[in-house]
Amino acid sequence: MKNEFIYQIFPQTFCEVGSKRGIGNIKGIISKLDYLKALGITRIWISPLTKSPFKDSGYDVSDYYNINNMFGNMDDFEQLIIESKKRELSIIIDIVFNHTSNQHNWFKKALLGDKKYLNYYIFKDPVNGKEPTNWKSKMGGSVWEYVPKLNKYYLHLFEKSQPDLNWKNEVLRKELINILKFWRDKGVDGFRLDVCNLYSKPKDYKDDEIGDGRRFYTDGEELENYLKYLNYEVFCRDKNIFTVGEVSSTTKEKSFNYAKNNNNELDCIFTFLHLKVDYFNNYKWTYMKPDLLQFWNMQKEWQLYFQENDSNLALFMNNHDQPRAISRFGNDKSYHYESATSIFGFISLMRGIPFIYQGEEIGMTNMHFDNLDDFKDVETIGNAEELKNTINNNDLLNILRSKSRDNARSVMQWSSDKYAGFTEADNINLHINKNYININVDKQKNNTKSVLYFYKKLIDIRTKDPIFVDGKIEFFKEQNFAYKRMLDYREILVLTNWTSCKENIKLKLKLNEWKVVLNNYSSINNKVLEPYQLIVLERI
Ligand code: NOJ
Repeated sequence: MKNEFIYQIFPQTFCEVGSKRGIGNIKGIISKLDYLKALGITRIWISPLTKSPFKDSGYDVSDYYNINNMFGNMDDFEQLIIESKKRELSIIIDIVFNHTSNQHNWFKKALLGDKKYLNYYIFKDPVNGKEPTNWKSKMGGSVWEYVPKLNKYYLHLFEKSQPDLNWKNEVLRKELINILKFWRDKGVDGFRLDVCNLYSKPKDYKDDEIGDGRRFYTDGEELENYLKYLNYEVFCRDKNIFTVGEVSSTTKEKSFNYAKNNNNELDCIFTFLHLKVDYFNNYKWTYMKPDLLQFWNMQKEWQLYFQENDSNLALFMNNHDQPRAISRFGNDKSYHYESATSIFGFISLMRGIPFIYQGEEIGMTNMHFDNLDDFKDVETIGNAEELKNTINNNDLLNILRSKSRDNARSVMQWSSDKYAGFTEADNINLHINKNYININVDKQKNNTKSVLYFYKKLIDIRTKDPIFVDGKIEFFKEQNFAYKRMLDYREILVLTNWTSCKENIKLKLKLNEWKVVLNNYSSINNKVLEPYQLIVLERI
């Protein structure tokens, strides 16, 4: 495992150059490669760029071999590869293989009754004239959609425009391999596998009496065989492809194998349990402050488990599906700088591979939504539609404000110019956070007291020091939100306070035994941590 820092781009809202359509594009990404290199990034993960009707921001692919023309064309993509290689940056693309768009030719042919393509998807007969199971879609409503002409239902774990693929079908699996090879041969060095722990569906489809069905289709029986197959056919051939799998709702016992060193599956995995600590009764569409103790216990448990099992976690607090961590776990008003830096620093010095999501490096915050009509995201709209039946509009608005993916999808704040310097278009139909006037890259780039500056410094420290890759991690009984990294005779201590109040330090800390590696305040006291203070010390 190399010392990596990976940056995620959500292309729609990252940067637009040239076309003036008010949508980010590949040329825009190319224009920011120097910025990312200067930040210290080693790889860039780009959310889907392929053709799509864009019901789910590209996570509904209608053609795996072509670029969505709103982002540019294949020449632009090839240019992106050339320009990134020049800067020794590698590109990870998003691979959405659990489902396609219903506009994909495979699905269109299936709907016409073509047997070959019917078998690419999961079609089932009605049971007692109804849906085969009572499972709930992650986008709201049932996971089944009825096709009268076929008198069959098809499975869609996400929106009904995203039919699930049938991985049991070997012919389909070969098609998928060809797609991966196509992009590998274009010069792509990595894949992020969207919801890959849902590939293997169960043998029997039965009602879930205690949940929404996920326990029947998550981490399925054949999954590891499928991952080994992809690995054997593509990831480990010719050149080493970096892979990260998204495995939402997984258990640690099931998931460590996916990213175990030398297990020939994936390089690392994203899990989300640490973020679901503001789900009331495990249900996302509720309003709850994050339970910090639960968060911390979860971190310890997963870190130790993955260490023992020689497996790799992705370290992250933000992505395009999550509300901004600074607004969720921090105090984005009174302690903006301190929250942004302590959340990032504390998480990304743990054992694993750190990821940054566009905009977090300047402390971009959640949006403020005034009305229910302000939301654009398909998951938010789908679930709101259902929630409306049981919750009043005020409560619903509060829930959506805190949980909607729209929070993460506002345009990247490059400057205080019109539309935050994201585009030169006259109009845009994207969310833009009003605070861009104060929070933007231009304002921070030469300011040594900025979030951006702190990110650069921390990335530099981490990527140069093997202790963060190879070092052991250990926790303390007497102190939450603290850990040690150790390699040979060296020891690094990381300590933080994720609250807006001062907090006592329970560890016996003799400051003359340590040198300061990082501190987001100007001084250190061995008895008390300031609100959102982060300190990183190395034993002398
Ligand atoms: C996970 C992706 O991150 C999310 O944005 C998408 O809606 C679902 N998978 C479905 O592809």
